[in-house]
Amino acid sequence: MKHHQYDVLVIGSGAAGLTLALHLADRAQVAVLSKASLQEGSTWFAQGGIAAVLDDSDSVEAHVNDTLNAGAGLCHPDTVRFTVEHGKQAIQWLIDQGVDFTRDSGRDDYHLTKEGGHSHRRIIHSADATGRAVHSTLVEQVKQHHSITLLEHHIAIDLITQADAGSRKVRCTGAYVYNRDRDQVDTFQARAVVLASGGASKVYLYTSNPDSASGDGIAMAWRAGCRVANMEFNQFHPTCLYHPKAKSFLVTEALRGEGAHLQLPDGSRFMQRFDPRGELAPRDIVARAIDHEMKRLGSDCLYLDISHKPAAFIAAHFPTVKQRCLEFGIDITRDPIPVVPAAHYTCGGVVVDTNGCTDLEQLYAIGETSFTGLHGANRMASNSLLECVVYARAAAAHIGAGLEHIALLGQPPHWDESRVTNSDEDVVISHNWDELRRFMWDYVGIVRTRKRLERATHRIKLLQKEIAEYYSNYKVGNDLIELRNLAMVAELIIRSAMQRKESRGLHYSLDYPEMAAIARDTILVPTNFAAQDIIVSAAAG
Ligand code: FAD
Ligand code: SIN
Repeated sequence: MKHHQYDVLVIGSGAAGLTLALHLADRAQVAVLSKASLQEGSTWFAQGGIAAVLDDSDSVEAHVNDTLNAGAGLCHPDTVRFTVEHGKQAIQWLIDQGVDFTRDSGRDDYHLTKEGGHSHRRIIHSADATGRAVHSTLVEQVKQHHSITLLEHHIAIDLITQADAGSRKVRCTGAYVYNRDRDQVDTFQARAVVLASGGASKVYLYTSNPDSASGDGIAMAWRAGCRVANMEFNQFHPTCLYHPKAKSFLVTEALRGEGAHLQLPDGSRFMQRFDPRGELAPRDIVARAIDHEMKRLGSDCLYLDISHKPAAFIAAHFPTVKQRCLEFGIDITRDPIPVVPAAHYTCGGVVVDTNGCTDLEQLYAIGETSFTGLHGANRMASNSLLECVVYARAAAAHIGAGLEHIALLGQPPHWDESRVTNSDEDVVISHNWDELRRFMWDYVGIVRTRKRLERATHRIKLLQKEIAEYYSNYKVGNDLIELRNLAMVAELIIRSAMQRKESRGLHYSLDYPEMAAIARDTILVPTNFAAQDIIVSAAAG
């Protein structure tokens, strides 16, 4: 077991974590953890682009209003304005790092595309592989800095909290981290800790997300005493490729932005029946419409068709989608693409302020792990990468300003493995893993009922008990760490969904089909709440 010391420990190497590390590189020794390889996060797979006001015909007001509309009355207006107002600077910073965004041959500027809910073309992109362009550029930049240490195959298990000898205030001072290559648990101590560990969509059987999206940051923060909000709002992306071998492949919304049609198996269009904005209605509406039509027709999938556009246009704008579909025998310049909705984005998360500060001193959360109030009840397309960069920059400024006043405390205790043995029953993990993701899909999916949520509550209680017992008897490994966190976030999602007695945005209940007159966040407070002085009128944990 090793003991490591850094100024800042960043848990996660996606857009949020790398942006924050780069902004602190000249002032601090920073460690960035990645639970698998560096690319194994949602950022790498992002396709459509990043939303920002970059064109004279667009305005901050319009981007703010579109975000508020998509969020179905639940966005925090100050947060929305803060994020949108900082959008242009955030994009300029990415351009300065060297991100190669697609240019518009018709005008001497970047090409801007459109996606659901946006009233203007405002999505800057790198063809249909924006995440890859952003991530690889940021990794290249990080590698130039000796003050940043990138550690792959390191999985944070839990946060370390210690009381300051003088003030007696409890603060976050590091994390216990499982080193997969050495099969050991190391201690990381830091003046500030940043959760940048992405979302939790892997809690569902079908997802567009990579394997890393198991909600680790949300579960760790909750266990450490931080509030978690709006976990019932899981976004289902309307169009993931439907093919038995095409695990998790997203077909970008930008196809619809550039004119693709959604079709029933008989080739007819249907979105106008659900919303006057048709294919470009916000995601919750499109995903629910597809789910409704699939159930009505007993169909395994519906279709997305862009074949009416010139083949050269399709090849230039959507090379990744074209190539991936071709691997499954689908030529998108001629054939409609079979699609289904899949879990895509976690709108809720760890409650933070505009500096990314959580309820626990010296613990920050940024990116998809966090709950800033930007997305409300339904995130608008391409606002997520924007939030990653804007909040990473804000949190870095806050950490940088305070770092020299934060002393490292005494060395925390080592991870204790004296009472656990190697597991001889890994089937418990694989079984519970499958069961959890299946019942979340069936009972806590796109359309919910009180009865289904009650069933899910019973299931999760049983699983939690079994997992806790297993965890206290056996040594940790990747799958066990993730399963424990998935079960934790599943519980938080179910509890939040049970509390919401209305239908709003991504949370649709057949028992409560109407939207309540007053919009309220669902804020869960843990029993070991870290900031006891914050008064909240929310349900106790
Ligand atoms: P991620 O990029 O998910 O990175 C999480 C990091 O945390 C990873 O490095 C992971 O290894 C690490 N990690 C997790 N747990 C631990 C742990 N316990 N210990 C150590 N490390 C850990 N949004 C847009 O705005 N525009 C788009 O076009 C777009 N397209 C998308 C397409 C796809 C297919 C997907 C899946 C998402 C898309 N999104 C898009 C959403 C967006 O990509 C994500 O919300 C965003 O990239 C999240 O960035 P992040 O830095 O918060 O986390
Ligand atoms: C997409 O390209 O459709 C994903 C965009 C997003 O999730 O914001």
